[in-house]
Parts: sequence; structure tokens; C-alpha cells
Amino acid sequence: MPVDDERCRRAARGQHTGRVGTGDAQRVVDEVEGAIAFERALLIGAAGWIARSPSLADKLFLCRWVWAAAERVRTLDRALPPSRRGDALEAGSDAGTRHLVATTIAAPSARAFVRGLVESVLPAAAVIYSGMARQHGLAARAAQVCARDYRRVTGGRPPRARASMNEAERAYRSRLHTLAAQTRGWQAGDRGVSIARDVLKPAREPSIQAQACGEVRPEDWLGSGEREHHQYLHQLIGFEIVAFETVGRQIADFPTMPWAFHSDLAMQIRDEYRHLLMWLERLRRRGGRLGDFRLCSLEFDLCAGQPLAARLALFQRLVEGFALEALDLNRLLWEARGDVVMLDYIERVQLDEVMHVRKGNEWLRWLCGEEQNITAVVTRALAEARARLVDTAQALAVRGCVETGNLERLLGKLDQGRGMPVNVELRRRAGFSDEAIRHEGLRRDVRVSL
Ligand SMILES: [Fe+2]
Ligand SMILES: [Fe+2]
Repeated sequence: MPVDDERCRRAARGQHTGRVGTGDAQRVVDEVEGAIAFERALLIGAAGWIARSPSLADKLFLCRWVWAAAERVRTLDRALPPSRRGDALEAGSDAGTRHLVATTIAAPSARAFVRGLVESVLPAAAVIYSGMARQHGLAARAAQVCARDYRRVTGGRPPRARASMNEAERAYRSRLHTLAAQTRGWQAGDRGVSIARDVLKPAREPSIQAQACGEVRPEDWLGSGEREHHQYLHQLIGFEIVAFETVGRQIADFPTMPWAFHSDLAMQIRDEYRHLLMWLERLRRRGGRLGDFRLCSLEFDLCAGQPLAARLALFQRLVEGFALEALDLNRLLWEARGDVVMLDYIERVQLDEVMHVRKGNEWLRWLCGEEQNITAVVTRALAEARARLVDTAQALAVRGCVETGNLERLLGKLDQGRGMPVNVELRRRAGFSDEAIRHEGLRRDVRVSL
């Protein structure tokens, strides 16, 4: 069976050597390609910090950064001559870019990274793009679009002052400042920069605090009272936060995957962010307060530290695949209650989720090849994650850290699809083959008619 880490490494492409001409034309191409590498590196860094930033405001800022950077990369690539498009999109193409990626990920704290983006990267990018917009006809339009995009990030205002930084954070800011000001020709450092891998638990401030790994508190998906509705919304909020944190790690832990992979995941982060805003808005309108219920992060715990194929199998294929059908039940619930706002939200979310599962299936196929290999990855990943989480839940129970019935609730979540009908049409739209749909039926112990 193919090993996905090896496939990731093979995806790292060699540095291109072709030239498009001499003088100005070549300089324009070099500058645009430098900007692409710069944006790619920062996208990967920002994605990695989503799960590591405790502040919800910073998580949301980083989500916006990731998909805006993806859009800038696409804009810049389109500005290249046709023969050069796509060449600069692979982040692992040279040692200097890899060094920039490693540096952004290795910030001493979430606060230092976010401040580094605002105080060092934004001003540097504004200078680069205004310069390009003035000097070069070919890339001028793309540069104007990117400059405008950066101005939008700050809202045209200088970054607000925040709490003072410690020595490590100040040193990091100046290192990022130097790198950002270069935009090309980053020199790999003499000493390797250590990259945080295997983030096992997302950082969370009190209002979005996660349950412990292996802990599953009682949930309520059907209650009709106001407090039950607040709890229901917290369950959805918890899922959206986990989704962008998990997907952010899929980008950052696998920085040499092809650009198309990072681009697809950046769009997924955008969608999860928008879903979260809908639930937060609903909670606010219904008089709820974020933080009244501890959020579940089981889906993050399932995937943390696993190889990429296992993460895609567990999150996009199994968890989000199950959500396709679970959202159907939610839709019926709100239809029966005549709540058109919730109905509209659920339908919007389900449309996006079909695409997330579809992309997950495509990338699983890219990593693993044939359907039988994917089935083997899914089965093994689930069995390993289940054993790991059950062990953790049992240890929590021995220490008296969880409420009675925790292990049963955990097993209930892990087996939540059992006995539930498989929606063949929805799954086909989400890129499941007939063989995969049949396998899902077997896993759930239900009949499937294809
Ligand atoms: Fe979502
Ligand atoms: Fe999703």
C-alpha cells in the first residue's frame, strides 16, 4: 500500500530553471513567483497556528488569512505568462521557501505569530505590491488586487497596539520582519528551525474551552427549550471550530503536498469559518452566551498526530461523511418546527459539506490509489483511533475526572452511524464510489440498494 508521507515528499518539486526571456520580462516573472512563494509560505504558517492560538479572535483572523492568501496566490499565478503558470506554486520548491515556512510555524507563541503578520508582514507586503503595481504592466493588475486585499485586512487602519512582548517574541518579530522584507532569496538558516508537529490538543481560551481528550459530555440534539437550543448551538459551534483547526493541521503538518491540496483545504477553512459565524449569530440572537457549555473536540482528538491519509479518512470521509446524513435529520427537525432560519442555515452547511467530503475522497484516492487501499486505511485508522481514545477515557474514569457514563458516550459517538440509513444519492455527490457506499452500509450494518 502506498505510504502517504512518501507521496507528500515526492510532491515537493524541484526548482524550475526555465527562463522567459531577458531583462524586464524575466524580472517581472521573478517578482511574481517570489510573491507566490511568499504567500504560500505564510498560508501554511497561518494554517498551523489556527489550532495553536487560544484566542477565538486570532483563530478567525488566521482563517481569513489562509483563504485570502490562497486567493492571492491564484491571482498572482494567473498574471504569469502561460508557459510559467503553476511553476511557483509548490512551497517545497527551494530551501529558502522551506526556511520561511519553518520560521513562520516556529513562532514562540500564537501572539507573536499574529503580531508578526500584522506588524511585519502586512507593511512589507503593501510595499512589495505597490511597487509591482507601479512598475510592471504584466503583473500590475494582480499586484493592485493583492495590495487592496492587504489593505482590507487592516481596514486601512494601523494595527492596534497590544500587550508588550517578551524577548523571544520580539526576536521572532524582527526575524519575520527581515524575511518579509526580502520576499525572495530567503536563505535557509544554518541551524534548523524546529517545526511544531503533532499538536495533540487545540489551544482554547475559556469561552471556547474544549473537553478533555477522551471526554464526551451528554449532548442534546432534539431538545426544544431555550437552554437546550443554546446547548445545541454550542455543539455545532464546537464542530465548526474543530473543523478549521483540524484542516489547518492538515495543511501545516504536510507542507510539501501539492498546491491544489492546500487550495482545496483553504476553501474548506473559509466554509467552516462562515458556518461558525452563522451559529454564533444565532446564539447571540437567542440570548445565549458563548462558553455556557464546554465544547467537544473529539474529532480533533481522533486525527491528531496521524498520517495524512488517516486524517482525511477519519475527518473528511467518516466524520463529515456522517454529517451529510445527520444534517438531513437536523433539516427535518427544523422543518417540523417551522424555523426557516435554521432550515436555511442547515441547507447551506450541507451543500458545503458535500464538497468537503468530495475533496477529501479525491485526495484519499490521490494518496492511496485503489478503493480497496482506501478501505484498508479507513478501517485501520478508525480501529487505532478508537483503541487510543478508549484507553484515554478509561484512564480519565480511573482518576475520577469524568462524569459517569463517559465511556459509553464515547463509544456511542464513535459508533453513531450504526443502524442509520445510507443516503446513496448524497454520497454519490460527495464522491463515494459504489464500492465505498456498500462498505459504509456494511460498517453501519444496514442494507444499501444501489
Ligand atoms: Fe462546517
Ligand atoms: Fe466541513
